[in-house]
Amino acid sequence: MTGPATRPVLGAQLPLVQLVDVWKTYTAGEVPVHALRGVSVSIFPGEYISIVGPSGSGKSTFMHILGCLDVPTSGRYYLGGTDVSHLDEDRLAEIRNHRIGFVFQQFHLLPRLNAWRNVELPLIYAAVDRRARRARALAALEEVGLANRANHFPNQLSGGQQQRVAVARALVTEPDLLLADEPTGNLDSRSSADVLAMLAELHRSGRTIVLITHENDVAAAAERTMRFRDGRFVGDQESAA
Ligand SMILES: Nc1ncnc2c1ncn2[C@@H]1O[C@H](COP(=O)(O)OP(=O)(O)OP(=O)(O)O)[C@@H](O)[C@H]1O
Ligand SMILES: [Mg+2]
Repeated sequence: MTGPATRPVLGAQLPLVQLVDVWKTYTAGEVPVHALRGVSVSIFPGEYISIVGPSGSGKSTFMHILGCLDVPTSGRYYLGGTDVSHLDEDRLAEIRNHRIGFVFQQFHLLPRLNAWRNVELPLIYAAVDRRARRARALAALEEVGLANRANHFPNQLSGGQQQRVAVARALVTEPDLLLADEPTGNLDSRSSADVLAMLAELHRSGRTIVLITHENDVAAAAERTMRFRDGRFVGDQESAA
């Protein structure tokens, strides 16, 4: 599905993400839960990867670590070559703001703000000045094909369009990595196809995307599928799509 330009050539390119023997153990209850058990993977710039596996297999935990929402209990995480396994919350927040874009099943748009005002929010936190914020928000909406909906409020948009606004908000900071946890989980099949087409387009333009899904057809849209079981990474496959 992808042209040669986006295929990582081993040895020619450094991984964007490198996890080395990552364990995550939750100790909230009486019995510790080993959510990740020795995960080692590399993700290269420009890859489009889907993550699949049964409920409870560690997919979201994996994504939280990739997105610096949490740190491993043991093991190493190198992001762009920098070890981010043991950073404090302030440093992690800085990395999240600058390098990671998140998309979730629920769109999490603010209902009282129109599309471009929603999209500019991360730039307010990043202290970007007003005029640049508006220009960048409009450019991000254009990138997801919604330039003509910039002044619409969330309740004036379809589910698929709302999710595209959420993707524009995730992209507006120009992150290295776009992470999506069940982004089509709340959408009907048509809106879901719409969002998948947009992700494919973002992939073609060079974005690095990691997407969690329960649905086989959604997984097949990515160029590589990683499978989790019981906190372990049990192999990946190239998509036939
Ligand atoms: N904050 C937490 N505290 C304690 N245990 C947790 C926490 N988050 C996840 N777990 C446990 O870790 C394991 C992995 O959870 P995770 O959310 O990563 O699974 P998942 O693959 O995303 O599942 P689903 O497909 O249902 O979303 C589960 O057994 C879960 O109960
Ligand atoms: Mg999950």
